[in-house]
Amino acid sequence: PTPLIIDTDPGVDDAFAIALAALSEDVELLGVTTVFGNVPLEATTLNARRVLALCGRADVPVAAGAARPLVHAQLQRASHVHGSDGLSGRSAALPEPVRALEPGGAVSLLVSLLEAATEPVTIAPIGPLTNIALLLAAHPEVREKIARIVVMGGGLAGGNTTGAAEFNIWSDPEAARRVLVEEPVPCVLVPMDLTYRCAVDSTWLGKLAASGPIGTALEALTPDYLAHYRKALGWDGIVLHDAVAVAEAIRPGILKTESYPIEVECSLGPARGATLVDRRRQALRADAEGDVAPGRVEVAVDTDLEGLRGFILE
Ligand code: BDR
Ligand code: CA
Repeated sequence: PTPLIIDTDPGVDDAFAIALAALSEDVELLGVTTVFGNVPLEATTLNARRVLALCGRADVPVAAGAARPLVHAQLQRASHVHGSDGLSGRSAALPEPVRALEPGGAVSLLVSLLEAATEPVTIAPIGPLTNIALLLAAHPEVREKIARIVVMGGGLAGGNTTGAAEFNIWSDPEAARRVLVEEPVPCVLVPMDLTYRCAVDSTWLGKLAASGPIGTALEALTPDYLAHYRKALGWDGIVLHDAVAVAEAIRPGILKTESYPIEVECSLGPARGATLVDRRRQALRADAEGDVAPGRVEVAVDTDLEGLRGFILE
């Protein structure tokens, strides 16, 4: 199974993404690191530990990372999307964490897991990219241990936090730029344009709830999130952004990707946090296999929507 580390800010869709990896036989979940984002770090960390407890995965170490972005600490939460505690106000219904938090923090756990790995590891950052930027800045030697970084973030046609910027990138654009543009590591970007198309409806959620105790507990985290996405989508469903990215981390190729140059806008102006993917025909590179040129990413552009929804449900 593919070795995987998830970096996360749960978050309802993060909770689904963690469960997807924790319960998948195709992947070896080595660890989970947490970051500020949807709600403050203390809450995202507790939520991640509770979801792992729900999934019976006390073997997976968890470490807390950055509480604030790298440069400009303007901290916008998304508790209006995910509820006051990040899980629709329902986090206390999940089991208490079983395993103690790792004492050294996220970067230290990432370094030790990568150093110990006997094959290249996939990292799936599904929150602000602060921890991953700090890791790569302080420990460039671990780059060779990273197979791919599969990032949920960005928007090709605008954002969800501002007109220009998607939440994870907007939350720490300097960190996102470091990881996506400056570092020579292979990155896959799973933007909101595709995750929106993968939205699941109330029938899908009903099947999840009927699937067993873990499915029931996950579905119970969705009321506030559903209320938000009912307005955003115009129909009764939710967008599992982070689970879409983790699906690609687990099953490489489940998303169709194309290689494009990318920039991240870090000015303090109205486009701060925008991902500028150059999709002009001449920018597309077909022979992108193994291409780790800085400033280029594999952008997820399409998938078999029903197949993906079925995979996550299963
Ligand atoms: C991203 O922002 C967060 O609210 C979600 O958890 C997801 O990672 C979507 O823009
Ligand atoms: Ca997230």
